[in-house]
Amino acid sequence: MLQLKSIDLRKIKVKTVVIPVSEDREIHTDGLIRAAVKEAKKFKEFNGKKEEEITLHDFPGLRSKRIIFMGLGAVKGVDPEALRAWSGRAVKKCIQMSLSETLMVVPTAKAIKTEFSLNLEAMLEGASLGNHLFDRYKKEKKQKSLKQISFLVPLAELKKNARLPRRVESICRGALLAREWVSMPPNDKRPERFSSLIATEAKKAKLTVKILDEHALKQKGFGALLAVAAGSHSRPRLVILEYKPKKARKTIAFVGKGVTFDAGGINLKPSGSLEDMKMDMSGAAAVAATLIAVASLKPGVKIIGAIPIVENMPSGTAYRPGDIIESHDGKTVEIGNTDAEGRLILIDAMSYVLKQYKPGVMIDLATLTGACIIALGEKIAGVFSPDDGLAESILAAGEKTHERCWRMPLPEDYKEQLKSEFADINNIGNTRWGGAITAALFLSEFVKDTRWAHIDIAGPAYIKKPNAYCGPGGTGFGVRLLCDLLDKL
Ligand code: BES
Ligand code: ZN
Ligand code: ZN
Repeated sequence: MLQLKSIDLRKIKVKTVVIPVSEDREIHTDGLIRAAVKEAKKFKEFNGKKEEEITLHDFPGLRSKRIIFMGLGAVKGVDPEALRAWSGRAVKKCIQMSLSETLMVVPTAKAIKTEFSLNLEAMLEGASLGNHLFDRYKKEKKQKSLKQISFLVPLAELKKNARLPRRVESICRGALLAREWVSMPPNDKRPERFSSLIATEAKKAKLTVKILDEHALKQKGFGALLAVAAGSHSRPRLVILEYKPKKARKTIAFVGKGVTFDAGGINLKPSGSLEDMKMDMSGAAAVAATLIAVASLKPGVKIIGAIPIVENMPSGTAYRPGDIIESHDGKTVEIGNTDAEGRLILIDAMSYVLKQYKPGVMIDLATLTGACIIALGEKIAGVFSPDDGLAESILAAGEKTHERCWRMPLPEDYKEQLKSEFADINNIGNTRWGGAITAALFLSEFVKDTRWAHIDIAGPAYIKKPNAYCGPGGTGFGVRLLCDLLDKL
């Protein structure tokens, strides 16, 4: 649990205090804390450089048993992301020490340029996200998450930011839920199971849940989604989550790619590309978890989450390269490659959302292409949108949350690459190059004139090595981004 505190450490006893220290400037205003930092810096091994740390037991005047000082580096590099990472590292340190609670001191000095509330928010996020351990498949659980993380702030700031811890907690709980789902092995989240996991959480959050099963999908003509699902024994689902406040100003729709395992289908992926394909439902996880977070944030807009869920497998019943299928929207699609499956389930879900809900804005999140990772690397998502205002808002939300996004082009003339001799469109481009763009252009053919953006999260949705506030596995990318974006639309 996150909490703000404004207490006098001279009077009140706190077992463990963690203090951020800059290597070149004083970042605290409280005299006692400044004196303690000075004392810590007397040790040769501690200067306040990033990753440096030192623990003092007892400091005259401070009633704490244990004071941990952790380096932040030079003050010019201290921004909200540096503080987010710092508090993630601080929580990890406390977990390693088997503590159950801790108090972190929030820097107050003007030396740090960003506004106090932004710094505090980032520290709350880093702590909440860093406090997560994915250990449900380990019999022996070596570490435990902290029960309580408090932040020492001045009284005026405590009043000003009183609602921040609950908001951050709601959003980060969503991000952690998405991480859990993405990290889960593919044998435990096949489509029927994954859709019921989502439904359970969504009902707990009091969202409206609708699920289209295979029968309903057939009846309503979801030809593209059903084609992708044909190779798997697990039957597909379309999960629709609705958040409906009383007087909604507008409707926003999020669509998330939910491929619980992407073997590639008949165009089977090679070894080395298969192992992490349990993450191919990261868009679905982010959309579902965002709606669950939204249910406690209670914004004044109607929000729809549409989540098509399939498993892409090769088998005797699988769809083939060369097949022509009819999408929900009526256009026919020639299958150039069964591994370009994400776009097929997305177009059917998007057409359905447009028809049923007529949203003012529609945004899809998908681990859509390896090409996007080649373009932007593993930490930055690609944003594709014909709408400048919408793209700008997404990039701004990316800056704020450090779920980084970069705008990519949608060149009209590249659409030629998707031409098919036999059907209305082909599901892959006819050259090796620009695969993230042709994938986005393929989607664009199905969105009509609704304000729309596609976010390719193939890179940042999953990490193999832990970072300051995320363990290996799903990152929950997209949840913080979309929650922040809601205020900007
Ligand atoms: N799920 C993959 C994209 C992907 C690759 C996500 C690596 C995360 C990491 C997607 O379905 C896919 O296979 N895309 C193909 C498209 C190609 C066949 C046109 C790709 O990117 O190679
Ligand atoms: Zn694929
Ligand atoms: Zn895929």
